[in-house]
Amino acid sequence: MRLTLKFAFLLILAQASVRSAHSQNSAKSGCALNLDISSPPYSPLIIDANTKIVMPVMEGTARVIHLTEGERVTVSCLGNGNVMKATNMQLNPTVCTSSSKLQLVNGTELPYAALACSKANREVLVEKPKSCANGLGTLISNGYQFGNEFISLYDMCHDKDFALNYYSVDTVYGRSANAADRRNQRPSFSQDIYYPGLNVSKLYTQVTQTETIANILGSKELATHYIKPKTQYFLSRGHLAPNGDFIDADSQRASFYFMNTAPQFPTFNGGNWKFLEEGIRNEAFARQLDLTVYTGTFSVMTLADINGLPKPIYLAFDKNNNVKNEDIICPDVCDQIPWVTEAILLKPFCN
Ligand SMILES: *[C@@H]1O[C@H](CO)[C@@H](O)[C@H](O)[C@H]1NC(C)=O
Ligand SMILES: *[C@@H]1O[C@H](CO)[C@@H](O)[C@H](O)[C@H]1NC(C)=O
Repeated sequence: MRLTLKFAFLLILAQASVRSAHSQNSAKSGCALNLDISSPPYSPLIIDANTKIVMPVMEGTARVIHLTEGERVTVSCLGNGNVMKATNMQLNPTVCTSSSKLQLVNGTELPYAALACSKANREVLVEKPKSCANGLGTLISNGYQFGNEFISLYDMCHDKDFALNYYSVDTVYGRSANAADRRNQRPSFSQDIYYPGLNVSKLYTQVTQTETIANILGSKELATHYIKPKTQYFLSRGHLAPNGDFIDADSQRASFYFMNTAPQFPTFNGGNWKFLEEGIRNEAFARQLDLTVYTGTFSVMTLADINGLPKPIYLAFDKNNNVKNEDIICPDVCDQIPWVTEAILLKPFCN
């Protein structure tokens, strides 16, 4: 096994599809669930008849989920052992009433505040049968198990042999892009069952990465020139599918996987890259469109070594000190993105 972690990013934008308009109904009849003032401690996910998470929109300064009167939704507390406290059930079919309540099958009407789950919704990872990145990667879907169905949040293309991530695919929901939960809880990153034999969290620590880079460059002094702990100059865990693209706090938390990261300097991650991510969300909101976003890595960063020669930088090597020999050119994924040949902007890369 040869292990690499790669550095720069490439972002490919984006599919436009008009979202169903059901969340755009006026608040006059039906349900308007104000998430800011009536969320229970562990909020459920509201799943519509198309097995989609119903997302809030901004109304003034409030995040509000709209349902039409008579609309059937499943109030869901997802993940192992998670249930709605009022019923002790994970999946609760309900109907939205004229008084902004959700009616259980036995007739009881409950306000949103009474729909607490026993804990936070919890995602699962599912490996897809099809490979990605020209057969080099394994496609891992991150989402929720919903009865017998799977609600995908985003996909990750991960190379198990080389311990690197090619790209992630997520959706920016235009109508809700400005209505994300803003508590910004940042859990630690999980490697789940991936990167066997590696402790990725440890590899990323500023102490360890400084040692690794010192070995590559042949100079501790040079390494401490490039990596300055507690400043903006070290390699941080840069999200591929951005935390900020997800709307509810539980789905945001589900973005914290090492298979969804590439090493990034904070100057860039919190600078130009952040503005790019925000720009995409702003564009999706302005046009009220859903965008499918592919975010990937490109090539391997180099730093000048003790002799001034550019050396590729990796966070891990295998026990024979191997890394992948050839430069990994971003695999051509155009044939996985049917609309791409239509996209004038991207056409030059795909022909
Ligand atoms: C309906 O179900 C809820 C939750 O299980 C329960 O609290 C309530 O008493 C039930 N109502 C009726 C009328 O059976
Ligand atoms: C990985 O390393 C960290 C220290 O950076 C340590 O706290 C953690 O327990 C290690 N995890 C495993 C699974 O060994």
